Amino acid sequence: MKTLLVRYTPRNERSNTKKLLDSFKSEIKNSDIEEIELSIDVPDLFLDDSLFAYIERNYLGKDLMPEKKNLMSKMDRMTAQLKSADIVVVGFPMFNFSMPATVKAWFDSVMQKGQTWNTKDGTYLGMMNGKKALVLVSSGGYYKKEPMTSWEHALSLAKLEFQFMGYSDVRGVLAEGMNAGDESKSSNLTKSIEEIQKIAHEWYDK
Ligand SMILES: Cc1cc2nc3c(=O)[nH]c(=O)nc-3n(C[C@H](O)[C@H](O)[C@H](O)COP(=O)(O)O)c2cc1C
Repeated sequence: MKTLLVRYTPRNERSNTKKLLDSFKSEIKNSDIEEIELSIDVPDLFLDDSLFAYIERNYLGKDLMPEKKNLMSKMDRMTAQLKSADIVVVGFPMFNFSMPATVKAWFDSVMQKGQTWNTKDGTYLGMMNGKKALVLVSSGGYYKKEPMTSWEHALSLAKLEFQFMGYSDVRGVLAEGMNAGDESKSSNLTKSIEEIQKIAHEWYDK
């Protein structure tokens, strides 16, 4: 079994999100662990040449010349890494009500047609069945109650991406209120860590 931890925690030891990821990591049992820090191993963006290469190869089924193939090499490496894992955990802070651009670039890199999803008989088909995904997000403000629920596009989007890729078990934990004072931060972190440990026990202790 393999667990992949995908993190975007450039604040390192000061990161709230890192505390969430660490609480999951310490509960992992009987699994190889691979980690990628997206603020260091930064995903590529689709720019004009790479976008055409992707469309030519993955949508039109063409073989790419080596130099065009190279444009996709980092995206292909990240896709292969994700496909090799049975459990994936992605952790990041909310930025401007959504995920940091670097994390979105990772999703754009790995959500490759023919690799993690496909189409069949005019409908979309996820290819990652049987696998599990957990999304861990920390945010400065509060989003779980009205009127703020519709502002939350970080956890909800990341979960949707995994559902689209066909993951069988998709969970998410939002540690909110990280900038709402020490007391609120500490009690919300504690609650989130308990939730995370419960998921880890369910997944690894069977
Ligand atoms: C560039 C930037 C944008 C942010 N945008 C939001 C936001 O839209 N909503 C929110 O609640 N918190 C926002 N925050 C606060 C962070 O989500 C929050 O402090 C988080 O816990 C930081 O995670 P970290 O400690 O792992 O870096 C933002 C922080 C930064 C640095």
